[in-house]
Amino acid sequence: MRIVLIGAGNVATHFGRKLMEVGEQVIQVFSRNRLKALQLAKELEAAATNDFAEINTDADLYILAVHDDAIGEIAAQLAENGITDKLIVHTSGATPMRVFEAASTLKRVGVFYPLQTFSKIRKPDFQKIPICIEARQEDDLTILLNLAHNLSNKVYHINDEQRASLHLAAVFVNNFTNHLFAIGEKIQTDSGLHFEMLLPLIHETVAKLTEGPPAVMQTGPAIRHDEATILRHLHLLSGQPTLQEIYQIMTKSIQQTL
Ligand SMILES: NC(=O)c1ccc[n+]([C@@H]2O[C@H](COP(=O)([O-])OP(=O)(O)OC[C@H]3O[C@@H](n4cnc5c(N)ncnc54)[C@H](OP(=O)(O)O)[C@@H]3O)[C@@H](O)[C@H]2O)c1
Repeated sequence: MRIVLIGAGNVATHFGRKLMEVGEQVIQVFSRNRLKALQLAKELEAAATNDFAEINTDADLYILAVHDDAIGEIAAQLAENGITDKLIVHTSGATPMRVFEAASTLKRVGVFYPLQTFSKIRKPDFQKIPICIEARQEDDLTILLNLAHNLSNKVYHINDEQRASLHLAAVFVNNFTNHLFAIGEKIQTDSGLHFEMLLPLIHETVAKLTEGPPAVMQTGPAIRHDEATILRHLHLLSGQPTLQEIYQIMTKSIQQTL
């Protein structure tokens, strides 16, 4: 399949590499930043452009891996440049299909959402990444299903509402959890200790999730209602009202969950 990648960030880079690995053909990379387009295109042996007018109009698939807020505007630009009968997908978990209504002439649109956290410095194991797809037309759904199965063993056809809920859940289990790790690291370094001391605990917390539901695996002062310990922790957070608030909200949420 001949693919144009729009965007040269985390997702575009990882998709580009994986698509190349499985024998798909990324023919062009577009980025508003010419240097970034050139860098990724060089790696993918593709052409590069930062000019909408130069986007190849002859590809089979256009993957929009750009900021959520830019999807509608870029889809409209593609339509303006005559790309109206080609399959165009975005990669966002939080963005509904109606974002493409900004370009009313586009008929073949869809979503190709990889449920993973991507950073350029890490190589993800694509086979294990759930890829969530949706398409307005049945034929396009088949095309996206085939492509997704080429990249991953976990392919899901889900609708806008399900994807929005999935993305919300992902924010809790990944973004917020990672922020809690960052708070833990700061607390450790402030007392002259290393974050890596916490790694076995973090790894075991995640490993246990294969044994049963997370709420059942909950431990700690909140679930035990150890009020004296909770008060000592809140005292240690004196002068850090945001962290005190997070601690109290998390404690309340844990106590209300079971
Ligand atoms: N990162 C993840 O873990 C992840 C996982 C699943 C899905 N997604 C989704 O994948 C999409 C891309 O995310 P990402 O992490 O790859 O983001 P990213 O690394 O920040 O890259 C975003 C790309 O969008 C371009 N861009 C931003 N605003 C633009 C505009 N107004 N016009 C043209 N190009 C614009 C950026 O160009 P510049 O470099 O010039 O700013 C960059 O190439 C998003 O929809 C996101 O929700 C991300």
